[in-house]
Amino acid sequence: MRGNSEKGAGPGPAAAGDAQGGALTEYMALIDGLAASGASGGNGAGPKIRLVPLPDGGSASGFWTVVQEFIDALPFLVILVDETHSIVATNRALRQYVGLDAHQLRGGYCPRVLHGLDHPFPGCPLEESREVDRWVERELFDPPSGKWVLSAIFPTGWRTEEGRRLFIHLVEDITVRKNAEEKLRQALDGTIMVLAAATEVRDPYTADHARRVAMLARAMAGEAGFTAEQTEGTCVAAQLHDIGKLYVPVELLNKPRRLTEVEMNLVKMHPRIAHDILRNVVFPWPVALIVLQHHERMDGSGYPAGLTGPDILPEARALAVADVVEAMSSHRPYRAALGTDAALAEIAGKKGLLYDAGMVEACLRVFAKGFVFP
Ligand SMILES: [Fe+2]
Repeated sequence: MRGNSEKGAGPGPAAAGDAQGGALTEYMALIDGLAASGASGGNGAGPKIRLVPLPDGGSASGFWTVVQEFIDALPFLVILVDETHSIVATNRALRQYVGLDAHQLRGGYCPRVLHGLDHPFPGCPLEESREVDRWVERELFDPPSGKWVLSAIFPTGWRTEEGRRLFIHLVEDITVRKNAEEKLRQALDGTIMVLAAATEVRDPYTADHARRVAMLARAMAGEAGFTAEQTEGTCVAAQLHDIGKLYVPVELLNKPRRLTEVEMNLVKMHPRIAHDILRNVVFPWPVALIVLQHHERMDGSGYPAGLTGPDILPEARALAVADVVEAMSSHRPYRAALGTDAALAEIAGKKGLLYDAGMVEACLRVFAKGFVFP
């Protein structure tokens, strides 16, 4: 199971369960209860067990027999390790996986048994769990086998006779789920591409607009401290933000002069139309809402709802800035390109008034660091 870390520490068993659900979480709740209910020394600081004797068939104490039977019934790998990665106990699934019996495994070096390494692999959940004293889980990919595993470490209050702290190490094969997620993601990417392409076909003057806005929005998201989820949501919304223009007459989109008020009001319907189209697509991000709000302005002067700052999604505030900067930087049927400098001067001048101050600063930092549109 050699692999590289893909996911950070979970905040604790309950929260980890929220993220992952499933058998691991149920198991941790059960073993938590088991340890706290009389099997422990019970001094109020969590379960205190002196691991005497080691769990091993007939010589094990009643408690360890129960624990051993319990973990043997589980379909995923369970290892009890001490803080030096030394294996203390294993379940049946683990023994079958590595093809060794309990006696051969006891005292073995866990990274060697699981990963073929003489040292903890980078990002080992045990190293971090020991440091932060809480549940840590990671999704790891094992290139040789092509498998994904969920590797979790839970610190216990139990210690070995030598006083070394014990950790419960759980490993679950999540390859099927990861592959399904990947296929779903590919299908979603395809849908987004088709929708974006439909807009571009009707409006060739802005063919690359959405793609370039998405690129800038992604760079800004990094500067603005967006989470990975917010970043993805913003970028997808950026790719689709003008899809409502499918319903705007082509003559208006390509008109080589400024629009009349009536014409402009028609164009201004595009966020609502886009929202109506996108709200029927199940995205893992609030794409329809971000797109709906991308022409809202902090002072309430935007459209379609005239929302003010706090009521506008951060993703929509980022998209608004990226949209304006790209649009001003590029050629339009009714004017030549104004240039990036003019675009940045525009958002800097309206910082906090029309545009979110943090997003403007993020955008200026992006360009200061050398960002250029392709
Ligand atoms: Fe727009």
